[in-house]
Amino acid sequence: MSIFKANSVSVNRAELAIVNDVDLQVERGTISVLLGANGAGKTTLLEGLSGVIRIAGGTIELEGQPLQRARPGARARAGLGYVEQGRTVFRELTTEENLRVGLHDSADISEAYALFPELVQRQDVPAGLLSGGEQQMLVIARALLTRPKVLMIDEMSAGLAPVIVGRLMQTMRKLADEGLAILLVEQFAALALDVGDRAYVMRRGRMVYDGDCKTLLDAPDKLHDFYLGSANTEG
Ligand SMILES: Nc1ncnc2c1ncn2[C@@H]1O[C@H](COP(=O)(O)OP(=O)(O)O)[C@@H](O)[C@H]1O
Ligand SMILES: [Mg+2]
Repeated sequence: MSIFKANSVSVNRAELAIVNDVDLQVERGTISVLLGANGAGKTTLLEGLSGVIRIAGGTIELEGQPLQRARPGARARAGLGYVEQGRTVFRELTTEENLRVGLHDSADISEAYALFPELVQRQDVPAGLLSGGEQQMLVIARALLTRPKVLMIDEMSAGLAPVIVGRLMQTMRKLADEGLAILLVEQFAALALDVGDRAYVMRRGRMVYDGDCKTLLDAPDKLHDFYLGSANTEG
């Protein structure tokens, strides 16, 4: 059974239907990659799943528990972690203070530094001064300290150097291998498909592909068609 399921989810923005009737599942110990052109509706879907926006229809389940009516905080406490697009660090706070936001004073944050040793020497530096890669590590580490069962990350790789993207992808693989269920939104497909298990592609608010990553990796033309809309087959 999938740990996380979205069934027929629709999400509106300003009364416009942006995401229509989307099904999605994420399994424990796997990486699901959600691809799609700019404007396809990926962020809107994640905002609906995390509770930032109230969904217009459908259901969301985590370990069988319905979440579609729960507030974002309750979804987080149920185990749904969410790293928003745009690396939203508290710029004036140090790395260490960012990691401690929302935790008890005595909370052990050594795991964050163990996962991303790069952050150790940056612990007293205001997060606004970190590189893009370090900021991404910081927001991922902060999300992990809340001990999510499912982690959704929006545009993890945007604007980062390939070597950093590769580093982050390997970390995603490690976290999945330890049991986490990961939903990774990416606009740049190749590296994500290489590290991922299951792939989804959205186009104009609808899911146009749900299948394994390898199939898409081996058929770049097919992926290209999904982005441009000339493919109409599923699976
Ligand atoms: N605040 C908003 N109000 C109305 N429409 C929006 C808003 N934000 C995004 N949209 C529209 O929703 C669609 C999907 O956007 P988005 O979910 O950000 O796509 P993606 O993350 O795949 O790039 C786009 O057509 C975009 O113009
Ligand atoms: Mg987006």
